[in-house]
Amino acid sequence: MDDQMDDEVEFNVQTFVPAELDYVRDSLTRGQASANGAYSRQVRQLLQAETGAAEVLLTTSCTAALELSAMLLDLQPGDTVIVPSFSFTTTALAFVRQGARLLFCDIEPRTLGLDPRHVAELLADPVHGPTVRAVVVVHYAGIACDVAGIREALAERPDVALVEDNAHGLFGRWRGEPLGSLGRFSTLSFHETKNISCGEGGALVLNDPADVPRSWVHYDKGTDRQAFLQGQVDKYSWRDTGSSFGLADPLAAILLAQVEERDVIQGRRRAVFERYLSGLSPHADALGLALPDVPEDREPAYHLFHVLLPEAERRGEVIAAMKARGVPTAFHYVPLHDSDGGRRFAAAPGECPTSTDVSARLLRLPFHQELEASDCDRVIAALVDVLSGM
Ligand SMILES: Cc1ncc(COP(=O)(O)O)c(C=O)c1O
Repeated sequence: MDDQMDDEVEFNVQTFVPAELDYVRDSLTRGQASANGAYSRQVRQLLQAETGAAEVLLTTSCTAALELSAMLLDLQPGDTVIVPSFSFTTTALAFVRQGARLLFCDIEPRTLGLDPRHVAELLADPVHGPTVRAVVVVHYAGIACDVAGIREALAERPDVALVEDNAHGLFGRWRGEPLGSLGRFSTLSFHETKNISCGEGGALVLNDPADVPRSWVHYDKGTDRQAFLQGQVDKYSWRDTGSSFGLADPLAAILLAQVEERDVIQGRRRAVFERYLSGLSPHADALGLALPDVPEDREPAYHLFHVLLPEAERRGEVIAAMKARGVPTAFHYVPLHDSDGGRRFAAAPGECPTSTDVSARLLRLPFHQELEASDCDRVIAALVDVLSGM
């Protein structure tokens, strides 16, 4: 099953806390394992308290939550959505599935979040600007994007919804405000690679109370079953479009155990982040390495640790040399504007040079809550050794 070298550092280890097993057993034996059982309700309450949201719906993935937010936008033919080119496919695909065309936006080099100047340019375009219905931001690695800049770019367009794809950012903050509380919609991921994880899972965070009743209809197979359960109607029926978005309760049980331990999980991840940063900083200039740069007004969510190598051409060599030293590394994202799907679904061709450059030079280091200080030091030493020898 495991073909990893015995002494290889693990790139990712899914979060696990012992209470999960008891909670899952209880959830499986209490008679409601489908969506929105007892465990789901507790997780929703905790996430709602964390973000101050009007409502939180647990979904089968962040992708599903993005699709639900796209349904709530009621997109019409000819509508467009501004998305970052430097992101995961479903940040864009979720809106395409609801009929929108895409306007790809570049990122700014400091946080690798959406570039507000490019957002403003896209909105000012005489042909496509008026068709924009939403702007999707990602808080890359759990470090908030330039929220003030994005708000300024949107100041004259109250009709354009801000959607936070907050797959990386749960528990991060921007100027003291929780990530996930800043957009009309915000989405979370509980995939095995995320800080809080039930294998596959997600959530839609609704920050505008006006969206809540419709969101339950789309969430629950297009029916008003939720209104029925709350005694607001005497039978439930088909009302609108929708799908089956709900997360099974045993998976929510896993989430509850982990959310209850969030301070420990986040503390361990923070320690890894800080160890990498302090260990690599003294070498960064000499090696031409760019390290994560957290603006003072932001508290990261400590989702991942990335560096930017000086030369894109040698990344393959660096990955191989790190692997030979027992340290797996990875890269992402292939710029969406330059992919077959991106070209097919774009409203107009566009250039995103920072996304292209970052995507070619970015390297992710092993990152999870089980890493000890000695593992971090081994990763740091391997990277310094590999880059010094080039
Ligand atoms: C920015 C971003 N958005 C969305 C997703 C999709 O998350 P999920 O796998 O929960 O659908 C990911 C996955 O890693 C992601 O990185």
